[in-house]
Amino acid sequence: MTEAEFLRIYRLIKNKYGIDLDRKKEIVQGRLDNYIRRGGYQSYSEYMNAVESDFTGRLEKELVNILTTNHTFFMREFEHFDFLRQEVLPQLRRKEENSRDLCIWCGAASTGQEPYMLAMLLKDFFGLEHHLWDTKVLATDLSTEALQHATLGRYDSEQIESLPDIWKRRYLKKLDSGEKYEITSEIKEQVLFRQFNLMDTFPFKRKMHIVFLRNVMIYFDKETKQELIQKVYDVMEPGGYLFVGRTETIDRGRTPFQMIQPSIFRK
Ligand SMILES: C[S@@+](CC[C@H](N)C(=O)[O-])C[C@H]1O[C@@H](n2cnc3c(N)ncnc32)[C@H](O)[C@@H]1O
Repeated sequence: MTEAEFLRIYRLIKNKYGIDLDRKKEIVQGRLDNYIRRGGYQSYSEYMNAVESDFTGRLEKELVNILTTNHTFFMREFEHFDFLRQEVLPQLRRKEENSRDLCIWCGAASTGQEPYMLAMLLKDFFGLEHHLWDTKVLATDLSTEALQHATLGRYDSEQIESLPDIWKRRYLKKLDSGEKYEITSEIKEQVLFRQFNLMDTFPFKRKMHIVFLRNVMIYFDKETKQELIQKVYDVMEPGGYLFVGRTETIDRGRTPFQMIQPSIFRK
């Protein structure tokens, strides 16, 4: 891959999807080489010509699927879930007792572990009253491949190992093959998966009470991140909570959010 060929990929991915691949030429090449070879392309230039003239968008979608990093796991940064259970949900239960309707958005849902855990937590928190509330989680991601996995809701036994036993028993069923588990339909029904690029205009009609945007802004540059945070702020309910990854930073001087903890923000 020549420098110019890399730049072409870099620009497309940065301009449309916000992902900053600066100094990641080797990684990009490592991920794409096989795909290019299998596709019979003679060069990266030929491949990019094909991507840019494919009006169905299929090739670009595949490129995005290859270049996004979808690493996630159950129980990741569980402190956020504890905080939800202890602080946020009791407040929301009081505040929304008349509408009984919560808007929850997981904006980088990847292969589904995070939104399914949110659904499990909500089910547990509301207990017998859960059916009286609408607590569906909107779960979006850029990668169609990750979302396919998420919608299927099937995980290997090692992947679910860290979940509390009670959640495993209640919300996962063992498949006949023995090695895989599937999220129960009771939980699947609580999560709505959609493909969505965070760089696009937000289409939401209602304001969000809870937004999870964890471990995705690390791929964006400062300006892109700043603009995204403002867009998220604008679609949130006053008093709503934003959760970002625990290693991510938000410039406190420039954010309209109030910082509750280093990775928890409130409108
Ligand atoms: C490392 S995963 C994080 C998953 C999960 N939130 C977590 O913390 O475990 C990052 C996800 O962000 C998604 N992503 C990257 N750029 C995006 C964009 N512009 N719009 C929507 N999702 C994006 C990727 O597809 C990937 O699934």
